[in-house]
Amino acid sequence: MDSQTSRKILVTSALPYANGSIHLGHLVEYIQTDIWVRFQKLRGHQCYYVCADDAHGTAIMLRAQQEGITPQQLVDRVHQEHTSDFAEFAVQFDNYHSTHSPENQHFANYIYESLLQQGHVTKRTIRQAFDPVKQLFLPDRFIRGTCPRCGAKDQYGDNCEACGATYLPTELKDPVSALSGATPIEKDSDHYFVNLANFQEMLREWTKSGSLHPSVANKLDEWLAEGLQPWDISRDAPYFGFEIPNTPGKYFYVWLDAPIGYIASFKNFCDKNQIDFDSFWKDDKNSELYHFIGKDIVYFHTLFWPAMLTSAGFRKPNAVFVHGFLTVDGQKMSKSRGTFITARTYLNHLNPEYLRYYFSAKLGSGVDDIDLNLSDFLNRVNADLVGKVVNIASRCAGFIAKRFDGQLAATLPNPELYQQFIDEGHEIAESYELREYNKAIREIMGLADKANQYIDEHKPWVIAKQLGQDAELQAVCTQGLNMFYVLMSYLSPVLPMMAKQVEEFFQISLTWQPKPLLSHAIQPFKPLMQRVEQKQIDAMLDASKENLTVTSPASSQSAPVKPALEPIFPTIAYEDFAKVDLRIAKIINAEHVEGAEKLLRLTLDIGEEKPRNVFAGIKDAYAPETLVGRYTVMVANLAPRTMKFGVSEGMVLAAGPGKKDLWILSPDSGAQPGMRVK
Ligand code: 2FM
Ligand code: ZN
Repeated sequence: MDSQTSRKILVTSALPYANGSIHLGHLVEYIQTDIWVRFQKLRGHQCYYVCADDAHGTAIMLRAQQEGITPQQLVDRVHQEHTSDFAEFAVQFDNYHSTHSPENQHFANYIYESLLQQGHVTKRTIRQAFDPVKQLFLPDRFIRGTCPRCGAKDQYGDNCEACGATYLPTELKDPVSALSGATPIEKDSDHYFVNLANFQEMLREWTKSGSLHPSVANKLDEWLAEGLQPWDISRDAPYFGFEIPNTPGKYFYVWLDAPIGYIASFKNFCDKNQIDFDSFWKDDKNSELYHFIGKDIVYFHTLFWPAMLTSAGFRKPNAVFVHGFLTVDGQKMSKSRGTFITARTYLNHLNPEYLRYYFSAKLGSGVDDIDLNLSDFLNRVNADLVGKVVNIASRCAGFIAKRFDGQLAATLPNPELYQQFIDEGHEIAESYELREYNKAIREIMGLADKANQYIDEHKPWVIAKQLGQDAELQAVCTQGLNMFYVLMSYLSPVLPMMAKQVEEFFQISLTWQPKPLLSHAIQPFKPLMQRVEQKQIDAMLDASKENLTVTSPASSQSAPVKPALEPIFPTIAYEDFAKVDLRIAKIINAEHVEGAEKLLRLTLDIGEEKPRNVFAGIKDAYAPETLVGRYTVMVANLAPRTMKFGVSEGMVLAAGPGKKDLWILSPDSGAQPGMRVK
């Protein structure tokens, strides 16, 4: 498709939960979306990309409680973390907002009122599991027990990880609340339901509209054939979310207001930038709307969401683009293998554009899972980006700088070859448009091969040694650099940071299908990208294993990983407590651990003959030298744990949300090493 007329396009990615870190599974989607948006912008369209944190729900409320902070504090902290992760991966939102915002409350109420007024909402009493200690209704995931089918212990309330059975929480044997350890009781409560069946016809039409990938449309057809169940949109207090208007103690279920966050984020953006909101959300003739999501949340986006939009008089999306999950080396991301890699850990070791490139080389428009094969990653980035693309420029640029004062020749020696690069742009654009990035990359790399072949044949390094051949040398290098210039314009949606360096080098902005640069002054060439080293990958995997002992991200989206079922605070009997041997310890040495992101190695005197060696995840909070000589409290009878850096013989007690906000416990003066804490 060519960019004759400018399109108005609004694009979203799924909103990440505000209680966990961004990881590589999430990044498949944000990188996929960002490339598409950058491509549209490069082609001159008015395209906006909005997103937000998904801030509500029981999990976030409990997480904040567990950390001893308010949900708002948690949401604010995670917002900062997410925005800096995204920025460093060059995921460039036009607006990044939060679902816990006034705009979102306004639109959630508005959409709910419209559903209510049109008779789509029904009240019903339902019986649910209730935690008598914590005094709250338990979502299925917060109930654990013995699988009714295979007898496996400690399974979730809705499915068994051992045998794959799905069941109701009431069928689980010996159920306990994962929050308090108490046996749940059953309790009645009024809930509000949206009658999705009222939207059956509209949804059936929509599946036929071509808005959905055939595999997604088929799935939707299956759901429609099964008949649509009423959707429970309310939750009881205590809940972190928006209270339902005129319905005290009842809150909107997080999945009601999450997609409304797309609207809210865009509204917030419009208000700041004088953009006409209605022309995007009310008018589907003159603007386009696309949602990028993972395959785990299709139901929400293809049934609930179009129903809500229709009821409130908003337009429906032109398409919902669904991608698969990420696997690493062919397997589900795994904490113990070190392949549950957070954005931050990746950034600590590797260049983000390696990953942007690798994902695009693998991504097509379908819902297949994509595999990050780490040795393929290393080979492909090195061979394609460093070996092919950057190589074109580095073989030509030096001569232009040294011999021609940075000046390119006035004509191209082979304009036909340059034209081939331009012509190929139509196919490449088509591939980007259809999200066939793997195809676009194959086409671009085919051109890079052609450019290298040209340079191999003309050998500027040989011409440079011949007397009187200056004009030819300048011409060949000008041809080479111009081909590189076109290639980089095609790659710029994928590699925006490298593209920026290239713009500085050429002293001109990259545009799609540029005119050749002739009689043009360029800057001295600086290396654009380093090779990936195996040791960087190893260090990243090691650091991810290390994370396992310190934090566990609790986000599910786009990764085949269940949220960690954290807050588990069962009550324990006194006899259990008595088993914990807490001792006063004197820190006699503290040092950094080479290669560890969070750990310090502590040597602790607890009055025994041999001091204890303990690894503590407090590196962000303490400089080692400030700890030496201090007294603290340790668990002395924790079974020794073999870690990558050695054996840890106990655990030091600390309090606080983490990172720099962590404080080790200190006894009052008088306590001596080895004293038992009672
Ligand atoms: O699955 C998830 O991670 C959700 N937070 C996605 C929400 S997408 C949208 F609907 F808000
Ligand atoms: Zn089972």
